[in-house]
Amino acid sequence: MSKENTFYITTPIYYPSDKLHIGHTYCTVATDSFARYKRLRGYDVMFLTGTDEHGQKIEEKAKEAGVTPQEFVDRIVEGEGGILDLWKLMNISNDRFIRTTDDYHVTSIQRIFRKMYDNGDIYKGKYSGMYCTPCESFWTESQLVDGKCPDCGREVKYAEEEAYFFRLSNYAQRIKDLLLTGEFLQPMSRVNEMIKNFIDPGLEDLCVSRTSFSWGIPVDFDPGHVVYVWVDALSNYITALGYLNDKYDDYEHYWPAVHIVGKEIVRFHSIIWPAMLMSLGEPVPAKVYGHGWLLIDGGKMSKSKGNVADPYLLAERYGVDALRFFLMRTFPFGSDGNFSNELLINCINADLANDLGNLVSRTTAMVNKYFGGKLPAEQEADEEKDSDLIAMASALAEKVGAEMDKFQPQNAIGEIFKVLNRANKYIDENAPWLLIKEEGKKPRLARVLYNLLESIRICAGLLTPFMPETSAEIAKRVGAPETAWDDLCSFGVLPADVAVTLGDALFPRIDLNKELAALEEISAAQKAAKAAAAGAKPVDPVLPNVKIDDFAKCDMRVCEILSCEKVQNSDKLLKFVLNDGSGTPRQILSGMQAFYAEPEKLVGKKVIAILNLPARKMAGQESNGMLLCAEGDPEHVWLTLVDDAIPAGSRIN
Ligand code: MSP
Repeated sequence: MSKENTFYITTPIYYPSDKLHIGHTYCTVATDSFARYKRLRGYDVMFLTGTDEHGQKIEEKAKEAGVTPQEFVDRIVEGEGGILDLWKLMNISNDRFIRTTDDYHVTSIQRIFRKMYDNGDIYKGKYSGMYCTPCESFWTESQLVDGKCPDCGREVKYAEEEAYFFRLSNYAQRIKDLLLTGEFLQPMSRVNEMIKNFIDPGLEDLCVSRTSFSWGIPVDFDPGHVVYVWVDALSNYITALGYLNDKYDDYEHYWPAVHIVGKEIVRFHSIIWPAMLMSLGEPVPAKVYGHGWLLIDGGKMSKSKGNVADPYLLAERYGVDALRFFLMRTFPFGSDGNFSNELLINCINADLANDLGNLVSRTTAMVNKYFGGKLPAEQEADEEKDSDLIAMASALAEKVGAEMDKFQPQNAIGEIFKVLNRANKYIDENAPWLLIKEEGKKPRLARVLYNLLESIRICAGLLTPFMPETSAEIAKRVGAPETAWDDLCSFGVLPADVAVTLGDALFPRIDLNKELAALEEISAAQKAAKAAAAGAKPVDPVLPNVKIDDFAKCDMRVCEILSCEKVQNSDKLLKFVLNDGSGTPRQILSGMQAFYAEPEKLVGKKVIAILNLPARKMAGQESNGMLLCAEGDPEHVWLTLVDDAIPAGSRIN
């Protein structure tokens, strides 16, 4: 195949420092959709993803876990429920998977480093500055935000070391020109950010080796140094094609690439990476697309905040295609978006169960009911009634293609749903259930159903990049041949006497409230399990709802403690005499001796008691009610003391 017909696309290579979450899944599913779209258009596609396994952070994590860094990353990448499993589950069609610990990559990196050194772009110097360990980045004082890392907001620490430097400053003008083409980095807002924040203030040379830790690729001509992890990581995009190694021979064929990356690493991809390539004398990437973040409650997802959504759980509950579809349908690709379970469920119900699923099942069911599953070839068109739907369906592939070429999957899906909605309206306009009753209208009815099947075929075919399995299933149901782009561009591909296949509902409706409650429970259980594993007391899940009337039946009052002493013959009980506002002192016994060594100190304090519990005898004494307590853990129980100003006898409601 000629070079013009190749398409090379990549995701970032992810850090195997923890399990990946829905944000990583979002980027990989998007990249997969672009790759599948290009394959559908007949391109010779190379789709690469992988893992970025070196660096201080991984070294530290492995140490915490008590294993070697290699064992640590192996488990996260290849272990059960690891990164490879996640991409398999999500039906990711990557052609290659690179790990930066792969031997061939290590060899290439040493050669790349040496090549840049030999051509004078790398020199030895001394580095001092503020270092952010999680981001593996050195920052100048002026780049810090409130003294913290400008990328992740975490603490930075002063670090100094002998190091190699890359002459990034020499490339400032060429990089600026590249950015200003408007084609190289998208969306355009990111170009402005890069120029304003990094190029215009002056590009400094980049420190590209470290001596402070060892989990990295050694500089072969100076083994005390390991190659800076971003030089190691960025180069994956060419080493995976065989650049300066013998493992593959695809570099000439596929390079340059389209890099899909999150906005926080655009700087590395649109400034440092093209400068490295310029230094190597290689073509710069075809494009860097900086997508937005999925946020939760308006903030960044992070394992440490414990607010990550689990793609395994969501795919298991709703299906892989529903999850893939939701991610691509809902969030404009270049901007941030707020993820929520409610959005996900609503999207499944509205778009998939209602608009798409219903259309497919209604149409195939009607073909089955009215024609025994196979349309008659004798059909009657009605130009006036049919032309709008046919025109929209015929023009759809071109519109979808234009949006996908601009990396706007949500707009592409939006176009598809305009046609699906038009098709749903077409059913109502033509009322097949009336046509079947009219004498001589069977050919017209057959044509109406044919137009619907054709519209569904085109829409389903164009949904292939987002929902590969569902699309194939729909194609099967409407009797469509294997999906090919040309067929999606024309109306009338199905034979007139097409036969349909029936099946179960593609996307059963989900009860939003029940499902949200179920997810809430799962997440509480997961948090509790995590807390328990970390040695902390699990927070009890919220109990099932009670009616407000039930709550109102408890007569709770603020009471003043008139006296408090240990109950004789008991090593647990304290005897409280209380003013409950009635004028008659009330006695309540409570098993709190262990927590109040000097009970007399409680006299005069105000507490809350439930008064209308049946009287109970304990250690030979009567107790009339119960004091409200807070239980921290079995070792800690506190009386719920309230403001002294509240008069005794005040009701709690
Ligand atoms: N290892 C580097 C990338 C090196 S590429 C040469 C890295 N890894 S990462 O594991 O932190 O992955 C970052 C990428 O994951 C982001 O750029 C983005 O594509 C994706 N996302 C991580 N969290 C995300 C969200 N909350 N939302 C959307 N994408 C997210 O950086």
